[in-house]
Amino acid sequence: MKIMKVEGNHKLSGTIKISGAKNSSVALLPASLLADTDVTICNVPEITDTDVLCETLEYLGADVRRASESVVITPTIENKVIPQELTKKLRASYYFMGALLGKYKHVEIYLPGGCSIGKRPIDLHLKGFEALGATITNDDEGKYVVDAKELKGANIYLDIASVGATINIMLAAVLANGKTIIDNAAKEPEIVNIATYLNNMGAKITGAGTSEIRITGVEKLHGCYHEVIPDRIETGTYLIIGALVGENLKVFNVIPEHVEALTSKLQEMGVNITIGSDSIVVSSKESYKPVNIKTMVYPGFATDLQQPFSVLAARCNGKMKVEETIWENRFMHLPELEKLGMKVERTGMVATFTGPNKLKGAEVKATDLRAGAALVAAALAAEGETTITDVEHILRGYEGIVEKLTDVGAKIKIEEI
Ligand code: EPU
Repeated sequence: MKIMKVEGNHKLSGTIKISGAKNSSVALLPASLLADTDVTICNVPEITDTDVLCETLEYLGADVRRASESVVITPTIENKVIPQELTKKLRASYYFMGALLGKYKHVEIYLPGGCSIGKRPIDLHLKGFEALGATITNDDEGKYVVDAKELKGANIYLDIASVGATINIMLAAVLANGKTIIDNAAKEPEIVNIATYLNNMGAKITGAGTSEIRITGVEKLHGCYHEVIPDRIETGTYLIIGALVGENLKVFNVIPEHVEALTSKLQEMGVNITIGSDSIVVSSKESYKPVNIKTMVYPGFATDLQQPFSVLAARCNGKMKVEETIWENRFMHLPELEKLGMKVERTGMVATFTGPNKLKGAEVKATDLRAGAALVAAALAAEGETTITDVEHILRGYEGIVEKLTDVGAKIKIEEI
């Protein structure tokens, strides 16, 4: 088991380079097997989630070569059942459902795992596959069999603008016969990144990034070169850390437009930020004006930044309300933040923080990925030493977090116990 030790209250300055987006990469890797020839994906972060997906591709028979941040995949595979030990390691293993169904019109796969931040049903993915002509059965062990004689384009309306369902339906529809329209599609930048990848392979997708995506099925897809967009959640996490303990901390290789909901809140609070074309510089202050946030689908305030953002309440004079609307179980960090000295009350899906709070090091547990990021942020701002357990969650999503923070002056290390 790994633990993280953070000695807080040091100012951070210098430059942090943002890695490729986790939530793009985890869809791009499974999508690779739709191509008939080699694909190269550049800027894939080296995190455990992408490691597991590469291992899964290899299990299916693909040849996966990683050179620094590029991954080259020869997608010659066998359509066999992926062992549950692999699928349950992360949520995104469900993208093998859409990709294998798209390519082979048949897939047998176990339900995915991932952070316990809510019920996380996949009904909209399955309804989409059914609309394309697939039949679905599942057994008591959680294995789904999705089969289609032929996949036929269809009009699909999503009840919720789900990121996963939008991507999975795109993966299944690119090789279907005829036209598919996904209405009320998710608009996250990751959706655009995946659609661009598929189009680079020869797919015909328009409208990605809007709520109506149109896909005209093609017969074959070929290899291509593709780049992963910068991770907007990693960007946001380091900006929040900068607002807590930064001194001209430069967060570089970012697309500022992707984090506008966050930067406008930071500006409203009075945080010093300077936004450039591909970098943002942030410096901390002792005290901020409290603001309220409510998580929304893109371009609203990202749920994945809600937990780290709430740490800023410790620097605010007064009450800050944080409302979560996407995941019903995304407040598991609250008792941990209390251990570090924050004051918070929860009513349903609203957490009300009262600041300012003097943060003091303690032993806390990372219950999920972004809760872990919130604890790192709080630990960096706290006096004394914090020990974070269950660090594996954090390593699923933040490439080189210890090295990146150490390079800008943080006292942080991971120990194996
Ligand atoms: N939902 C359904 N039925 C479905 C699918 C979703 O009811 O079939 C509900 C979910 O329960 C949730 C809402 O719709 O309440 C939105 O879920 P969505 O499908 O958009 O989320 P996801 O694809 O499972 C991705 C990210 C999450 C991020 C959300 C929202 C990946 C691998 N995960 O999840 O990222 O929070 O979109 O933006 O892309 C993270 O990185 O920490 C993380 C959890």
